[in-house]
Amino acid sequence: MTNEIARIAVVGAGLIGQRHCRAVQIADGATLSAVVDPSDEGRAFADSIGVTWFAELSDMIAAGAADGVLLATPNTLHAAGANMCIDAALPVLIEKPIFTDIAEGRDILQRADAKGVPVAAGHHRRHNPLIARAKQSIDDGDIGQIVSVQCSTWFMKPDYYYDVDWRRRKGAGPIYLNLIHDIDLLQFLCGPITEVRAIESNAVRNNEVEDTAVVLLRFENGALGTVNVSDTIVAPISWELTARENPAYPATNEACYWIGGTNGSLSLPQLGLWTDNGAQSWWQPISQVKLIHGFDDPLVRQAAQFAKVIRGTATPVVTGKDGLAALSVINAVKEAAQTGQVVDPRL
Ligand SMILES: NC(=O)c1ccc[n+]([C@@H]2O[C@H](COP(=O)([O-])OP(=O)(O)OC[C@H]3O[C@@H](n4cnc5c(N)ncnc54)[C@H](O)[C@@H]3O)[C@@H](O)[C@H]2O)c1
Repeated sequence: MTNEIARIAVVGAGLIGQRHCRAVQIADGATLSAVVDPSDEGRAFADSIGVTWFAELSDMIAAGAADGVLLATPNTLHAAGANMCIDAALPVLIEKPIFTDIAEGRDILQRADAKGVPVAAGHHRRHNPLIARAKQSIDDGDIGQIVSVQCSTWFMKPDYYYDVDWRRRKGAGPIYLNLIHDIDLLQFLCGPITEVRAIESNAVRNNEVEDTAVVLLRFENGALGTVNVSDTIVAPISWELTARENPAYPATNEACYWIGGTNGSLSLPQLGLWTDNGAQSWWQPISQVKLIHGFDDPLVRQAAQFAKVIRGTATPVVTGKDGLAALSVINAVKEAAQTGQVVDPRL
C-alpha cells in the first residue's frame, strides 16, 4: 500500500488515546479509521468525532478496519494487544512503557521480527525536530567528546493526582511514569547506558511509590550522567515545563538537560550551544549560539511517521527494542534504589 492513506485504529481512548486520535486525524498520510475502547466514555468519544467504534481489538481486527494500530491501553494490556496485532500482521505503535516484563517483551519483539511486522514505541519526544537537531550537533562534534550529562525532571503533581489508587502503588511513581521518556532521550543522544546507581525517597508524599529519586549513570562511551527526578518540587526544570510540546503545561524558559563535552556544552530544550572557540581554558570567555530548529507537534509527527511505517516506506524512528531498552533502564533504577547495588541495564 505504498501510496495509499494508512488507516490507523487507536486502541484505548483515555487521556493520551484521545490526543492520539486528534493527532492521527491531522497527520499527513494517515486517517483515523476506528476507535477501540470498551468503556461508555470511549464509545461516546468515538461518536463525538464520527469514527467507527469497536469494544474490543479482536472485533476491529476481524472487521479489517485498520492497516495499523496505535495501542494506548493501560500498561498491563500492551503485551496482549501487541500479540493480537502481530498475529494479524498489523504494524503496531505501543505507548510507553512498551511492556511491563522484559523477557515477555523480548519474546514478542522476536516474534514480530520473525513475521516481519514493524513494532514502534510511543516515545513521541523523539519526533520533536529539536531532538533531531541536538543529535546532529552532537554527531557533528560541536561539543566534542561527551563527558557528562545533567537531567532534571522536577515538577509538582497536585495532591488530587494521587486520589487514584494505582498511582500510589508499585509500577507507578515518577520513575516509571515520567522518567522513562527522559531516559529514552538520553540514550538516543548519548548512547546506551551500562551502569545505574540510584537512591529514592517517599518522604514527602509517603506513598508506596517514590516521590523523588537521584540516579547516577555511566554510558557505553564513557560519559557519566546525573538524573534528578521529583514530582513534589515546585520548579521550572522538566521537559514537560520547558519543551512546549503540550499546551496543558505552562511553559518556562529554563533548561532541563545539559550535555557537556570537551569542546562545548548544549542545553535542552533551548539548544544553546556554549563553546570557547578552541581556547580550552576557563580563563577564556565562552559564548553561546542558539541552534535553529523547526517546531511541530511531536504526536502528529509520530502519527505521520507511523503511517509511513504502515505503508512500508519507512522503519520506526523509535523501535520496539528502543522502548524495551528504556524500560530496562527504568527497571534498573528501581532495582538499584532498592538494593543499593550497581545494575547493568543492557538487554
Ligand atoms: N506518551 C505519553 O506522554 C503518555 C502520557 C500518558 C499516558 N501514556 C501511556 O498511555 C497508556 C494509556 O494511559 P492513559 O493515561 O491514557 O490511561 P487512561 O486510563 O486514561 O486510558 C486508558 C483507556 O484504555 C481503555 N481500555 C481499557 N481496556 C481496554 C481494552 N481491552 N481495549 C481497548 N481499550 C481499553 C480504557 O477504557 C481507557 O479509556 C499507558 O500505557 C500510559 O503509560 C503515555
